[in-house]
Amino acid sequence: MEKLPANIRHEIEKLVKDLNYHCYLYYVLDAPEISDAEYDKDYRHLKELEEKYHYVLPDSPTQRVGAPPLDKFEKVKHTEPMLSLDNAFSHDEAREFDERVKRFLKSDKEVEYTVEPKYDGLAMELTYRKGILYKASTRGDGYEGEDVTVNIKTIKAVPLKIEDGDIPEEIDIRGEVYMDIKEFEALNREREKAGEPAFANPRNAAAGSIRQLDSSITAKRKLHLACYGVGAAKGITFKSQWEFITWLKKARFPVPAILKLVEGIDAAIDVIKEIEGERNGFPFEADGAVIKVNDFGLQKALGMKTREPRWATAYKFPAHQGATKIKEIIASVGRTGTITPVAVLETVRIGGVNVSNSTLHNWDEIERKDIRVGDTVVVERAGDVIPHVVAVMKEKRTGGEKHFRPPAKCPVCGSAVEREEGEVAYRCIGLNCAAQVQQRIGHFASRAAMDIEGLGEKNVELLYTHGLIKHFVDIYRLKKEDLLELPRFAEKSAQNLIDAIEKSKHTTLARFLYSLGIVHAGEYAAKLLARNFKGIDDLYNIKPEKIIEIKQIGEKIADSISQFFSDPENLHTLEVLKTFGVKITNPDFKAEAAEKLPLDGLTFVITGTLPGPRNEVEELIENMGGHVSGSVSKSTSYLILGEEPGSKLKKAQSLGVKIISHEELVKMIEG
Ligand code: IVH
Repeated sequence: MEKLPANIRHEIEKLVKDLNYHCYLYYVLDAPEISDAEYDKDYRHLKELEEKYHYVLPDSPTQRVGAPPLDKFEKVKHTEPMLSLDNAFSHDEAREFDERVKRFLKSDKEVEYTVEPKYDGLAMELTYRKGILYKASTRGDGYEGEDVTVNIKTIKAVPLKIEDGDIPEEIDIRGEVYMDIKEFEALNREREKAGEPAFANPRNAAAGSIRQLDSSITAKRKLHLACYGVGAAKGITFKSQWEFITWLKKARFPVPAILKLVEGIDAAIDVIKEIEGERNGFPFEADGAVIKVNDFGLQKALGMKTREPRWATAYKFPAHQGATKIKEIIASVGRTGTITPVAVLETVRIGGVNVSNSTLHNWDEIERKDIRVGDTVVVERAGDVIPHVVAVMKEKRTGGEKHFRPPAKCPVCGSAVEREEGEVAYRCIGLNCAAQVQQRIGHFASRAAMDIEGLGEKNVELLYTHGLIKHFVDIYRLKKEDLLELPRFAEKSAQNLIDAIEKSKHTTLARFLYSLGIVHAGEYAAKLLARNFKGIDDLYNIKPEKIIEIKQIGEKIADSISQFFSDPENLHTLEVLKTFGVKITNPDFKAEAAEKLPLDGLTFVITGTLPGPRNEVEELIENMGGHVSGSVSKSTSYLILGEEPGSKLKKAQSLGVKIISHEELVKMIEG
């Protein structure tokens, strides 16, 4: 072993200090000052010096990885118990919490509160002795947890040493370890590929990653930490939560994304609303907001109930997920005959809405997730998205669960069922299948198609079952008197529908083509056809080769369009529509000009966050003749790289797809 010269010791100490600082800038403040390559260079240099001179500081970044796998986790007693929180499910319940606080304190004075997001992760306690991270433990039962120190050290945002602030003799800092949603999704994709079971939510993924005996696995999982509380402390005192948080920030600990100090419950509720409003933009899952009495003296006076303190409450947001049982699985027939399995659920309230069924997508999905009738499942509902089954809770199985096989016959019309080569979907081949017919009519009338207001699913079913429409053409045969005979129509509603039908007769070629419901030809294909063909007649008996000349349209779509326009019955339908007065204009048609758009024939994929709203960039690309696709493939012309790109970047790199910035895109357009 080489002797340690003073200058080398200083160099090592400086490297550790600098690298820790850059780690903090990158992982806590999200504002790096040096490049990854520079960081890596210094890191490697430090590692070499440490190995050569056997001088390793306890807070060296090299200590974040490399601990040998454990046999088991040791138990750790918490000096002060780690409590849980009482819940408030409404603003009124938050006000009741405030009233209880005041009543207990025998005071009418407004109370000072701190408000912050409630992270949906795993509670941790980090013990620092003389400023050095000494032990990290899980919450466990609140009194005793497990020693996960080596795993916690792999989280880059966790300081290995308290810097800058006052360094206490010993302090227990509490916080939540969590996984970002994007990271969770990427991890699940990887696991599914590897045939491993997916995690039901980011919290389970974080917990599974922390409870790894081999810390090198934890190190790969990109976990984060948000610190929000203090346990036992020696050699330092804080007067309030706010003072503690201020110290945390100075000492370089990551703290919650939003943290406010307010006076009175009304102001606290305003912050809750703000957090709820921002919730969907957070990269992590927040399941609520935590309100805490700020003053530690008051906290002490309030004390605790059995498991929860009286000085805090968790305001819970409506959940995105819920657990429920699959009562049965039905096969639902779509517009083009596609048969989709749908789970009929025991009704569960998710995000303030009653959910009683959920799509299962297709049979491959059922098989992959091993979903059975009678299973208890985790169902997710996010925004406007149709609820879907995230995972099966296999531990709840009793043995009576039943597999669900694809139907041999169409459940609606009894026709044969087929599965096309290479497709995951089963299809009913019956042309007059009632389910298909009704949905074709509904599609024809839908907003992006002929836009007939008042002709939604329910009314289509009503008109169909009363024999008034058997095909979308029949819509134009409807008379007000017919409608008035039906249970749901009165003078005004009947007139409104007749007016809406009349109005729909003036339409554009793009809308009209889309409304025909040609298999595989969606809104975008319809728009492309309209750009390239002047009128509907130009498509009669068209050959697929002619359609394929439109670069963005592939063979499958071209064949389907050609087939549609070669069928005499379809052409007859179009003629009938014309006799009913349907007038089609084509503002999208661009005779020669279309050829000269700067992004003509190019396909773009976007990844990460762009400087402006993504839909505006997409619109710009489309208007300039380009096409935006959701996934990278060999035919992608360019990947537009935003901040925090997803897995598309790797895919593009592996396929050799050109990668450009938003700025470069703008340059391409401006020429
Ligand atoms: S304060 C006395 N603040 O929620 C309890 N907890 O349901 C002090 N949690 O066990 C906890 N985000 O794991 C607090 N900003 C936050 C939190 C938070 C998440 C978790 C924590 C706790 C659980 C209680």
